[in-house]
Amino acid sequence: MAIPFMDLKGQFSAYESDIRAQVDDVLKSGAFIMGPKGAALEKALGGFVGARHAFGCSSGTDALLLALMAYGVKPGDEIVTTPFTFIATAEVIALLGAVPVFVDIEPVHYNIDPSKIDAAITPKTRGIIAVSLYGQCADMEAIQAVAEKRNIFLIEDGCQSFGAARNGKRSCGFAHVGTTSFFPSKPLGCYGDGGMVFTSDDKIADLIAGLRNHGQWERYRHRVIGINGRLDDLQAAVLLAKFARFEEELAARARIGARYSEALGDVVTVPAIMPGNTHVFAQYSIRTASRDALAKALGDNGVPTAVHYPIPLHMQEAFSGLGLGAGAFPVSESVSTEILSLPMSAFLSQADQDEVIRQLRRFFGK
Ligand SMILES: Cc1ncc(COP(=O)(O)O)c(C=O)c1O
Repeated sequence: MAIPFMDLKGQFSAYESDIRAQVDDVLKSGAFIMGPKGAALEKALGGFVGARHAFGCSSGTDALLLALMAYGVKPGDEIVTTPFTFIATAEVIALLGAVPVFVDIEPVHYNIDPSKIDAAITPKTRGIIAVSLYGQCADMEAIQAVAEKRNIFLIEDGCQSFGAARNGKRSCGFAHVGTTSFFPSKPLGCYGDGGMVFTSDDKIADLIAGLRNHGQWERYRHRVIGINGRLDDLQAAVLLAKFARFEEELAARARIGARYSEALGDVVTVPAIMPGNTHVFAQYSIRTASRDALAKALGDNGVPTAVHYPIPLHMQEAFSGLGLGAGAFPVSESVSTEILSLPMSAFLSQADQDEVIRQLRRFFGK
């Protein structure tokens, strides 16, 4: 049996009866959109991250889009973000006609370098999207300080970090707005697309409530142009069943991550956890100069790996119009050639993890 990169089947077997019971409730109720499961999920997850408002939405991408729409981001505005992330972070900026202004990452945790943000801010800058990459928060206090000084908004893209904490606060609960994704492979994943926006700003919350529902706060009265950005109740039901076991899963992820780091720290650069942070290891990503050869050797021996991400956003064709190329963000560029994600999930068995470790050490002659 091949080692799963992430074991969704094992998770389903463990929770099957709970998931089926939750889904059955929805099927029997006939309430599929904006029904009671969605509301229950928003209440539970809003409470978990410590935000006054939570809005289920159709994906992590739409969660980001809704946040930017709520701030009225328009063509020509500039939004500061990292080039070392999944494209969605910057895609939504460009979709609104605004300009992503990239700032390089710091080389230890791979999140946006707070010390470089201020220099990227111009009179056109409206806000910052900080990404909490791989499952640990960016240095949110330092970034918040810049946002406050410059009077611009701060969104945390917590699509990979739901469940992580920083100095006792949960990811998605810090910034003016936090967003997450329930894509199936995320730490808390559904069985399709889904996401959530969190905020404790009542005004932004009211805007998001209508924007995600075609710009209507009252049925068939459309005050502004919105989107169909809702989460459906079948996905909310799956998430409620999984959320009941989420803390156990976070503990398992932390344990498995620590076990990898203990076993591999002498041969590759293992993830560094920033002081004050907990890490949910949405990805367990190591760094080595022999990345490509290692990935091939592991693949040939039944160990799947993935690269998050091989091309920084400023070097993507879609962003060629920004006129940035190789050399613009050296840290992102160098990490993208060396980073490699190993199999990780709360259901990774000890035997499978031992095999990953054995194969990886063997590659380095250990
Ligand atoms: C950092 C980051 N931002 C945004 C997204 C977009 O989330 P979704 O796939 O749910 O649209 C993802 C998920 O892949 C992500 O990892």
